[in-house]
Amino acid sequence: MNIGVIGSGYVGLVAAACFAEMGNNVVCIDIDQTKIDNLKAGVIPIYEPGLSTLVKENFSRNSLSFSTDINDVLFVAEVVFIAVGTPMGNDGSADLKYVLQVAQSIGENMQHHLVIVDKSTVPIGTADKVKQKIQSALDVRSSNLTFNVVSNPEFLKEGAAIKDFMHPDRVVVGADNEKSMQLMRNLYAPFTLSNDRFVGMDIRSAEMTKYAANAMLATKISFINEIANICESVGADVNQVRNGIGSDKRIGYQFIYPGCGYGGSCFPKDVQALVNIANDHGYNPELISCVERVNKAQKKVLFSKLVSQFGNDLQGKKIAVWGLSFKPETDDMREAPSINLIQSIVKAGGKVSAYDPKAMDEAKFYLKDIKVNYCNDKYSVLEGADALILVTEWKEFRSPDFDLIKSKMNGNLFIDGRNQFKKDFIQDKGFQYLQIGVKA
Ligand SMILES: NC(=O)c1ccc[n+]([C@@H]2O[C@H](COP(=O)([O-])OP(=O)(O)OC[C@H]3O[C@@H](n4cnc5c(N)ncnc54)[C@H](O)[C@@H]3O)[C@@H](O)[C@H]2O)c1
Repeated sequence: MNIGVIGSGYVGLVAAACFAEMGNNVVCIDIDQTKIDNLKAGVIPIYEPGLSTLVKENFSRNSLSFSTDINDVLFVAEVVFIAVGTPMGNDGSADLKYVLQVAQSIGENMQHHLVIVDKSTVPIGTADKVKQKIQSALDVRSSNLTFNVVSNPEFLKEGAAIKDFMHPDRVVVGADNEKSMQLMRNLYAPFTLSNDRFVGMDIRSAEMTKYAANAMLATKISFINEIANICESVGADVNQVRNGIGSDKRIGYQFIYPGCGYGGSCFPKDVQALVNIANDHGYNPELISCVERVNKAQKKVLFSKLVSQFGNDLQGKKIAVWGLSFKPETDDMREAPSINLIQSIVKAGGKVSAYDPKAMDEAKFYLKDIKVNYCNDKYSVLEGADALILVTEWKEFRSPDFDLIKSKMNGNLFIDGRNQFKKDFIQDKGFQYLQIGVKA
């Protein structure tokens, strides 16, 4: 099939590479000329395991090409995916300007019947807006070309994006006609060969499914973080409580890790957008509004632990930070808890040394106004440090050389934002070890 993907970010590039890998011809578009030039030169703009190989292989056999000209898509494609960003607007709602700009250019330039697929996460009713935009542009051209708009929300996880796209738990498609639904079924059939995981539904339900999924996952995280905070107040250990509840199959172990709050490009903005969508329709979503509030508070927990030991004035203190990205296996810094933490430390007069295996360039952009000493490995950040804070649980932090850590540090405070270690083990190594949800 000839496929066009508009937007070559985390979702667009992964989708394009995976569709190409399955034997389709894919043209991937972006408005960012540098990004497209880099992609053509084999420079992949993001870190995502397996993506670089997949893009380069498919590019070299011409099943995947890149362009900044939307006509390169519209002249050849039967199906066009919209995978541009839908960032949080000033009022917390999803900003649809990029999606609607794309819809406008599709309407202005399309040359034959198209199935247009909303893959971006968009508020309920967006497919109708996309339809109207395209139709108005066609009307201006006095064109009687036809098109269908389909919703196909994406559920991939950054850090495991290729695996998730190639082996999805489910493929959700919302369509208002059987022909488009069948086309989407055919397109995704290679990804669900072992058992049929295609879930067809109406368009609004598909748009809502994405928000419901992210709200559920964010709720689980905020739930366990709230339980962690209660544990800490009452002298219980959330790690033991987690084991105690996760064994119940109705609850399960997944997504109940206590930590320093969720970040990334999806949960914060999608939870907030869902609150706004509900409010716009006259419903006050009490539970989901709290999820975001609990998370914002949780992002301050690591700094509070630091202050509990050193006081509010961090002048003269040197703090080492392990991990900057919002989660391991990605360089994505959007809404990462490390941003709040580092800003707070520097504001309180402390000095920060930081190391992340993949996200340092991104971090330099997100923290451009903040002086941070970026180091090339996990041990150099520790020189003379009064405290070490683990923010992102990259695998390389799981079994570090604790004797080496101690020999480099000035102090012995170790604050673990991801509860990676057994308390007794770290204390035996001579550290003062603070975790989330465990009394100091
Ligand atoms: N990142 C994730 O893990 C994830 C997962 C599921 C869904 N989503 C959703 O998918 C959408 C895309 O997310 P992302 O993380 O890939 O975003 P991104 O910011 O990484 O990429 C978006 C890309 O679109 C490009 N773009 C903007 N306007 C354009 C235009 N008019 N024409 C062509 N290109 C244009 C940008 O230059 C950018 O490269 C969002 O709605 C997001 O909520 C993201």
